[in-house]
Amino acid sequence: MSIKDRKLQHIKIVLEKDTQPYPSSFDKYVLPHKALPEIDLKEIDTTVRFFNKEISFPFMIASMTGGEEFGKTINTNLAIAAEKNKIPLALGSMRVILKKPESLDSFNVRHLCPSVPLFANMGLVQLNYGYGAKEINKLIDIIEADGIFLHINHLQEAVQPEGDTNFKGLIDKLAKVLPKIKKPILIKEVGNGIDKETAKKLTEIGIEWIDVAGGGGTSWPWVEGYRRDDDLGDIFKTESIPTDKCLIDCREIENLNLIACGGIRNGKHIALSLMLGADMASSAKPFLEPALKSSDACSKIIEKYKREFRISMFAVGAKNIKELKMISPTLIA
Ligand SMILES: Cc1cc2nc3c(=O)[nH]c(=O)nc-3n(C[C@H](O)[C@H](O)[C@H](O)COP(=O)(O)O)c2cc1C
Repeated sequence: MSIKDRKLQHIKIVLEKDTQPYPSSFDKYVLPHKALPEIDLKEIDTTVRFFNKEISFPFMIASMTGGEEFGKTINTNLAIAAEKNKIPLALGSMRVILKKPESLDSFNVRHLCPSVPLFANMGLVQLNYGYGAKEINKLIDIIEADGIFLHINHLQEAVQPEGDTNFKGLIDKLAKVLPKIKKPILIKEVGNGIDKETAKKLTEIGIEWIDVAGGGGTSWPWVEGYRRDDDLGDIFKTESIPTDKCLIDCREIENLNLIACGGIRNGKHIALSLMLGADMASSAKPFLEPALKSSDACSKIIEKYKREFRISMFAVGAKNIKELKMISPTLIA
């Protein structure tokens, strides 16, 4: 099956089927309530710097899609909303451009979001399938990206009928490619989580940003499972490190910045993820349906998350992000 047809099936499945096998890992926590915060809600500073740009709050739209029929609509609406709300945008896997240059149009959104960090995306496993520094730099150049996310997703590829499953030697290959890449490489999972040992190895070769993309949100083995006629996806749909555990396990690693993805479904989840060690949070699935409609529909979600995030900071009496990160959440379950 072509990449285009597979991506279309993914969109349809994520829109129509249940793809979240267990609740967000952040629902186990509550904010440690501060009875008298002695701050003004309006004066809370939610801004942070990310990749040398000031953004309105520590949240970004996670990599989704592009290249297929709806890619242009999705990426255009997301880019306009990202610029309006001053948050970063990560585009979905761009490998299709290297195979079919005509699909570049659907990723060509830099002019719509000139002032916010914008990221390219490709599967790390592609280093074992003929892609290298030249191709990665090309993807960065064509969208004038601030960096590129390379995703790791072996469980998804194993359940995917046409998956690329040779994950041998990737750390060494990445270490060799890294110095040749003109912008930072960020590593992400797609919803199964990143463990401490892997995060440490990645940090040792020079990776400074990891999106842990853990369990509690979209399960890609499950999405792929809907494309099969057996129960492989069902069996592996819950196999993941919950996002909160990824953060707790990886937060002590030196020189590593963490992004929390996987089950971020409101602004309180964003605040809780920062209290648990994240520097940024991101989500994908909540943006798919609005991105097919309009940039205003996307903006509405971002504004909602931002309001909830500010109120969460108010609830715990944090005037700025630095203060928020000093506070620990309360585990209730
Ligand atoms: C429709 C859709 C397409 C996605 N495509 C990509 C992709 O191309 N590259 C990637 O790294 N992650 C991709 N992801 C994974 C997300 O970036 C994210 O890590 C994962 O869905 C967990 O976040 P969520 O629970 O907020 O959906 C996609 C997610 C969705 C919902």
